[in-house]
Amino acid sequence: MKQKEDQQVLQHRQKRLVLISLKFAKPIAYFLLLLLSYTLGCLSSSNSSPFKNATSLPTTSTPTPTAPTIQDLANLPSQLDHFRVSTHCSNPLPSELVRQTILDRVYNATSPFDNFPPVHVSSLLRPQRLKGWGSNGAVFEHLIQKVKPKTIIEVGTFLGASAVHMAGLTRQLGLQTQILCVDDFRGWPGFRDRFKDIKMLNGDVLLMYQFMQNLVSVNATDSVLPVPFSTGSALNLFCELGVFADLIEVDAGHDFMSAWSDINRAYRLLRPGGVLFGHDYFTAADDRGVRRAISDRLLETSHI
Ligand SMILES: C[S@@+](CC[C@H](N)C(=O)[O-])C[C@H]1O[C@@H](n2cnc3c(N)ncnc32)[C@H](O)[C@@H]1O
Repeated sequence: MKQKEDQQVLQHRQKRLVLISLKFAKPIAYFLLLLLSYTLGCLSSSNSSPFKNATSLPTTSTPTPTAPTIQDLANLPSQLDHFRVSTHCSNPLPSELVRQTILDRVYNATSPFDNFPPVHVSSLLRPQRLKGWGSNGAVFEHLIQKVKPKTIIEVGTFLGASAVHMAGLTRQLGLQTQILCVDDFRGWPGFRDRFKDIKMLNGDVLLMYQFMQNLVSVNATDSVLPVPFSTGSALNLFCELGVFADLIEVDAGHDFMSAWSDINRAYRLLRPGGVLFGHDYFTAADDRGVRRAISDRLLETSHI
């Protein structure tokens, strides 16, 4: 009897043990799996750790990773996507194709001077209305004589005083120069306080039309084209199209950030032997933003 009872107790215990084992089998398996993945994770992360060389002896077979350059970082796909910039300029267009390319791309293959001025603005324009700042300075003549540019980009045009001057100089020298004038033709907030005679039509300050009229007045419509975008967009467009220049004048926004950005974007568009120059290095506008932008640019390159 006792023997039978003992046998029953034993069977019961064995059954319980099996049940307990079954009950804990799953969690144990999970735990083992977790432990395995953790170990593998640690091993693989120690392989790619930036501090690898600090904790292990250097070997001759593994090359030491070099630090990425600013250019590498700026060209990371994530950066390009984030800032929506196109970094690579196209091959340079032959200079004789520059005007037609801009007409095609910006003016739907027509000239903005066709049937100019439009009837609804003609009575609001003056036959000629020029105003510039140092726009006839000796630097223009000096550089045009020296470089004999086929393409000039002016970054910041306003009413076109310096563009008209450059068009006259290139004509005198018998050069076939195209001058591309980049400006949003909005001036700056409050500019009409000083230019009350420039009319406004439905919020448009008519700067581009007056600029075009000024070109008509000196018969320079074949050699000058307005490019009516922000400086950033226009210079990027030139880069995409492969429009490079022999002379680039920078005279748009005079705060540090505008000048810095314009100078850097413009610099990429210089042809070999070309010259980048600008205005207001000595003026105190926005705490000498232009001067600071140039000094910082000079620190980065010795080619400017
Ligand atoms: C000082 S005026 C240019 C004068 C011209 N170079 C001259 O001497 O006859 C500056 C011009 O830059 C333009 N400008 C300023 N910031 C600009 C920007 N971010 N994009 C496009 N044009 C801009 C203004 O509309 C203004 O007409």
